[in-house]
Amino acid sequence: MRRKLAAGNWKMNGTSAALSELDALAAKHPSPSVDVLICPPATLLHRAAERTQGTGVAVGGQDCHAAPSGAHTGDTSAEMLKDAGATAVILGHSERREDHGEQNEDVRAKANAVMEAGLQAIICVGESLEQREAANTLDIIGGQMSGSIPDRSTGENLIVAYEPIWAIGTGKVPTLDEIGEVHDFIRARLERRFGEGVGRSVRLLYGGSVKPSNAAEIFGVSNVDGALVGGASLKAADFSGIIDALESV
Ligand code: PGA
Repeated sequence: MRRKLAAGNWKMNGTSAALSELDALAAKHPSPSVDVLICPPATLLHRAAERTQGTGVAVGGQDCHAAPSGAHTGDTSAEMLKDAGATAVILGHSERREDHGEQNEDVRAKANAVMEAGLQAIICVGESLEQREAANTLDIIGGQMSGSIPDRSTGENLIVAYEPIWAIGTGKVPTLDEIGEVHDFIRARLERRFGEGVGRSVRLLYGGSVKPSNAAEIFGVSNVDGALVGGASLKAADFSGIIDALESV
C-alpha cells in the first residue's frame, strides 16, 4: 500500500509571518492519516522544521545543487537542506526547467544527490500545451522520466509528480481521463524499468491547479497517490481542505 501524500510548494512566497500557517495546519491535522509536506522557500526551511517538529507536518526543499558542497555561490546542497530539517526535495519543477534552463541530466544529478543524502526526491514531469495539442504528451513524459529519474530509485526515495505546465497556476485542469492516462503510463514505465515491486511502490502525485473544490475527484483517479499543490498550499485553510479530501479517499 502506498501512503498518500499531500505536498505543498510555496515557491518564492512567504516571509516569517507565513510560519503561522504551519502552526494552523499542524493544529488542524494533529495526526493525519496521510503524509503532509510543505516546501517553503529556503530562507524559512530551518524555522519551519523547528516549528513543525513533533507534528504531522514535514518540510522539504524546492531545489538543490548536485554537489554536496563547494564553490557554487548562491546554491544549496541536499546535505544542507537535510541539515535544515528537510525530508524531501522537489526537483525539475517546470519553473526551474524554464527559469534556469534545467535539463533532464541536471535533474537526475540533483536527484542522485538528494537520494545520497537520504532524502526523498519529488521529480516533476509534465508537458506544455503545445506538446499536448500535438499529441506528444506521453512521449514527453517518457523522455523526462528516462532522463531525470536515477537508476538507484526506490519506493522510499522517489516520488514522481505529474504537472502539466499549462495547468500550473492557471485554474485549468486536465480531464480525469487525461490525468488517469498519464498516471497509468508513468506507473507502467516505472514497473518496466524498476520491476513490479519497486514500480508499484513509488508514489505518483498530480500537480496543477489542485484546490479543495477539485481535490476529491482528482484523488479518485487511478494511480493518483496525492497532490503537489502550489497556490492552494499557502493558506492552511485551503491546504487543509485538500488534506481532508485525501484522507477520505
Ligand atoms: P498550482 O502549482 O497548484 O499553483 O497550480 C502547482 C505546482 O507548481 O506545483
